Amino acid sequence: MPVVTINGVPFAAASGTLLSDAVSPHSHLETPCGRLGRCGKCRVFARGALSEPTVEEKKLLSPEELAQGVRLACSVRILGDCQVTTASEAQAHVLGSKQDVHARAPLFSRWGAAIDIGTTTLAACLYDRSGNMLAQAGCMNPQAPWGADVITRIGAALQGEGPVLARAIQRRLDQLLKEMASQAGISAREIDALVITGNTAMLYLLTETNPDCLSHAPFAADRLFGEMLTGAELGLCCAGAAVYLPRCFSAFVGADTATALLASGITQQDGTRLLADIGTNGEIALWNRSTLLCCSTAAGPAFEGAGLTMGMPGRDGAVDHVMVKNGALHAHVLGDTEAVGICGSGVVDALACLLETGQMDETGFLDPEPAVICGRVALP
Ligand code: FES
Repeated sequence: MPVVTINGVPFAAASGTLLSDAVSPHSHLETPCGRLGRCGKCRVFARGALSEPTVEEKKLLSPEELAQGVRLACSVRILGDCQVTTASEAQAHVLGSKQDVHARAPLFSRWGAAIDIGTTTLAACLYDRSGNMLAQAGCMNPQAPWGADVITRIGAALQGEGPVLARAIQRRLDQLLKEMASQAGISAREIDALVITGNTAMLYLLTETNPDCLSHAPFAADRLFGEMLTGAELGLCCAGAAVYLPRCFSAFVGADTATALLASGITQQDGTRLLADIGTNGEIALWNRSTLLCCSTAAGPAFEGAGLTMGMPGRDGAVDHVMVKNGALHAHVLGDTEAVGICGSGVVDALACLLETGQMDETGFLDPEPAVICGRVALP
C-alpha cells in the first residue's frame, strides 16, 4: 500500500484515493466548494506518485504553480508513495509534547548577546556568564526602505535585492553589538555567542536565503533554521562567535515565537495559556496541556490602514472612531485638526457603520460611489 507522508508524518493510503480524503483526517484542509474543484482553496504542495493534473487544476493553477508541485487536493489521486505539505501547516503548527520547548545551558563562556530582528525594530541585550544584563540597544530595522511589511521585502529580495537587504541588517547588528560592548566596557570582539531570533522571513533575509517559498502557496518554508553559524558568516566583528538561529515553526510562525514561548515558560504550565506578540507581524500561540496552536498575521498594517488610499497610523488627523447617528456617519479625529486619513480602528468602525447604513453588503461589497467618512476621507 502506498505511503503518503503528510507534513512529515507517514500514513498508509490505498492507491486511487483522492488526496483530500487521505489528508483530511490528519490535517486541516480548506474545502469550501465541497471538493468540486471550483474554489482552488484546497491547495497543497505535493510530490511523488500522483495522477496527472486535471482540467480543474489546469484552470485554477498556473503552469508555474503546477511545476512547483502545487496541487488541488480534491482533484489529485494517489498512485504510489508521495509527500504532501498542507497550507495549514504553514499557518498553524501543532506541537505534540512539552519536550519541544525547554531551557538549555548558555552557549557562551564570556559574553553573550541576544538579538531580536523585528520587522520594524531591532532589540539587543548583552549578558555576562552569570546571566546579568550588561547593556541594551535598539534601532529601527534598516530594511524598512525596501517595504514596511515582510511580503514587500520578500518581493524586493526576489527582484535581486537580497544581498543588499542582508548586508543592511548585518551591518546594523554589528553596530548594535559595538554599542552594547562600549556600554559594558568590553570589546565587541570578545562576544563569544549570539542568539539571533526573528520571524522566518527576517532570518531568510539576514542569511540571504532565497525567500521564494515564503511568497506563494502553500507557504512551505524550505529552511527552518535551528542552526549554528559563526559571526564571520554574518559579517560581524565577533568573527569567531557562535551564532545560533533558533528554529522556526513554519513560514509565518518564526523563531521569535519559539523564543518567546521558551522565555515565557507557558508550555511548562498546566491549564490554558495564551501568548500574543502584536508587532508589525503578529503571532498568537495558545497552549493547552499538551497542545500548542500558533497562527500569525500582518498586524501592524492593519493598525495603520496600510493598503488603503487614505490609510495612516493613529496620529493627529487620523479618523480613529466612526459611529452612526440619526442615519448619518459621525467621525472622531485624533488631535485638534481636520481629518487627513483613517487608521485601523477607524476602518473597523467605518465598515461596521457602512454595513449598518447599507452602503456595504454582508460580503464586503461597497457601493460604487466612495463612502465619505469625514471631510475628504472616504472609503475605498
Ligand atoms: S475544495 Fe474547492 S477546489 Fe478543491
